[in-house]
Amino acid sequence: MSYVNKEVIKNKTLKEFMEVLVFENKESGSLYAAQVIANKVLMNNSVNEETVLGLATGSTPTDMYKALIEINKSGVSFSRIITYNLDEYYPMKKSSPHSYHYYMYDHFFQHVDIHEENIFIPNGEIKNEDLSKFCEEYELSIRRNGGIDIQVLGLGLNGHIGFNEPGFSMDSLTQKVTLSDTTRTAAVKYFGKKEEVPFQAISMGISTILSADHIMMMAWGNEKAEIVKESIEGQLSKDVPGTYLQTHKNVTIILDAESASKLDNDRISLIESKLS
Ligand code: PGA
Repeated sequence: MSYVNKEVIKNKTLKEFMEVLVFENKESGSLYAAQVIANKVLMNNSVNEETVLGLATGSTPTDMYKALIEINKSGVSFSRIITYNLDEYYPMKKSSPHSYHYYMYDHFFQHVDIHEENIFIPNGEIKNEDLSKFCEEYELSIRRNGGIDIQVLGLGLNGHIGFNEPGFSMDSLTQKVTLSDTTRTAAVKYFGKKEEVPFQAISMGISTILSADHIMMMAWGNEKAEIVKESIEGQLSKDVPGTYLQTHKNVTIILDAESASKLDNDRISLIESKLS
């Protein structure tokens, strides 16, 4: 099932349908994102169905995970969620504190009642010769579980989504990718030295991301303001993979006042009030 309307791409995009929500800060925007997920989980739990989530790492979703942990403690069970992570560095040991595997257990999985067998993260330990088979299986596994209900995304400083860097085509699937210099530089804050940052990663593809039923992209802070504007208001372009979201029929962009500060369109909803 795909929500990408390829006909539309030639002429214009669906960006007029994008829901752009601006919150006072990261914390309130993250709480909203967590509540959207919780509502979906509650609805599916009530009819004994699984909820399939696409999950992101990095600094963007940290408060969303904190909010989800609280929601889980308050009684919303995550025993029926199935998760697919967007990406992992390659090569990367799962046990390394720099791995996204480690990040996910540390920030989320070890604190909630998710079942281990429902967790899928690209495997940075896979042998190079087994990698393309692994990526194919990742795609098939998503499909076998009925596709992603809600895909959570951050936005890279260069407009990447997942590790799909500028230049990637819209029909890319899960694959090994080469990281851009901007992305490796941004990762120095975690690795300490640039030499330590891997050159490659395994990333869910753009097409995989766009086949989710609902995409929630979050971005916080002044440093994201320019790329948020380009992604939402700019021309559809492979130079800014974030613009590919304009082609999806059900996208929610969740921003704080700073990351929204350069937007000039009037479709923005200021919704602090929704949270009170
Ligand atoms: P960040 O990264 O959450 O650390 O800002 C976002 C991204 O690169 O997708």
